[in-house]
Amino acid sequence: MKRSRTRRRTGKQQPKGRIAALTVIAAALTAIVIWIGVNDWDVTKTLERAGLADSSAEQPETGTPADMPAQPGKNEPPEAADTAVPEEPQPQSEPEQAEEPAKPFDGGYVEGQTLPTEPTYVNGILIANKKHPLPEKFAPGENKEARDAFEEMAAEAKLSGYNLTAFSTFRSFEYQVTLYTRYADRDGQEAADRYSARPGYSEHQTGLAFDIGEVNHEKHWASESFGQTEAGKWLQVNAHRYGFILRYPKNKENITGYMHEAWHFRYVGKEVADEIFKENSTLEEYLGLE
Ligand code: DAL
Ligand code: ZN
Repeated sequence: MKRSRTRRRTGKQQPKGRIAALTVIAAALTAIVIWIGVNDWDVTKTLERAGLADSSAEQPETGTPADMPAQPGKNEPPEAADTAVPEEPQPQSEPEQAEEPAKPFDGGYVEGQTLPTEPTYVNGILIANKKHPLPEKFAPGENKEARDAFEEMAAEAKLSGYNLTAFSTFRSFEYQVTLYTRYADRDGQEAADRYSARPGYSEHQTGLAFDIGEVNHEKHWASESFGQTEAGKWLQVNAHRYGFILRYPKNKENITGYMHEAWHFRYVGKEVADEIFKENSTLEEYLGLE
């Protein structure tokens, strides 16, 4: 009896349980369908909102198209950005300069410039270079103060065994015409402009330039080789004590306008010569000339 009652009771409960389960499933399915509908029928969006999908995955890239370069530095670590900072300031105008068409060679001279009526003095110093010519009639002769300084220097050099002589000092405008014409005819104007001044532009016309060599060593006169002689070396380190500067030093052609001349010294006075020597500079740099 007990058994059959139990069986009956169980038999009655089975359909009810199924109905309940089906009802729950149907309700759940209905809720899911409604939820998807609420999310514009977008399953991905629905899953994301339900916390069942990663929102960053499969996101279409917005903004920068793939073929566009990334923003500079945006994706670089700070170290990489720091190393990109130039150690030296870069001239802003460099790219423009590089693209400028080459100018016709003017030898450093100002195109179309005519000789002035007065010489140029800067801070009391007489200037003769490719930008600052002299009047044609300017002819002061050899400068007395410079000559005295040279004699004093030569006397001391003699004590060290060097017999110095000044083989070219003051040169007139007319004499420079003769020299420059000869050199330009021989080597061409472009080459001559690197070592010989055009008439009106020579420092020798000021009377303050002294071309120095050694007596009986003419082969080194007006030659690069003079700089390698003991006398030439002595002058390089002592001339400033007497008021002379090596006027056209090595590697300064872009500033002075002339190739290195180991023999050409310019009298500027002891104070100025000292300063230029210590700074290893040129008269143009010392006076702040172009
Ligand atoms: N040699 C120098 C530059 C002159 O001719 O004056
Ligand atoms: Zn000279």
